[in-house]
Amino acid sequence: MPKRLALTAAITLMALPLCVAAGAAGAADGSAPTAAKAAEAKPYKVEGGKVDPGTYNGYRRYGESCMRCHGPDGAGSSYAPDLTDSLKHMDYDAFAETVINGRKNVNTANNNVMPSFGTTEDVANYLDDIYGYLKARSDGALGRGRPQRIGD
Ligand code: HEC
Repeated sequence: MPKRLALTAAITLMALPLCVAAGAAGAADGSAPTAAKAAEAKPYKVEGGKVDPGTYNGYRRYGESCMRCHGPDGAGSSYAPDLTDSLKHMDYDAFAETVINGRKNVNTANNNVMPSFGTTEDVANYLDDIYGYLKARSDGALGRGRPQRIGD
């Protein structure tokens, strides 16, 4: 269905700057869910080791798109940094900027490339969830492994 695909792509392109802008502006108007989420002290909910649906979705998206480089549970690998550590000093905006645009650290000593996910819908559309999951890991609110969902 090329027509639907094109539409989805257009929506993604339109939504991206909005997400990033909403993150930057905080919940100035309090209307957009993204803005509300970014303004909350914690972008995740963990109750008795169980997580809200967004955080669970973030866990799944992380596993699909990030784990092969950043290792299980966000804990890093020999190739890519420990994101549970990165998010101790990186805010949502810096995180989003890196994931959307990617980053290269290539020189004689390094050949580290963080791909750009700006056009990867499975990532770009769920940045909040991925951030929430990694933030929960970073804060020590969530342990390693597959979390259970609240209510399950
Ligand atoms: C192909 C391997 C690869 C994949 C896949 C990948 N990354 Fe990365 N990522 C890297 C590398 C390498 C770096 C370090 C780049 C540098 O040295 O500047 C990095 C850096 C980062 C940083 C900056 C960390 C810091 O401390 O500055 C963030 C945030 C990040 N990645 C998030 C993600 C997320 C979220 C995903 C999944 C959507 C992902 N990455 C997928 C390789 C990858």
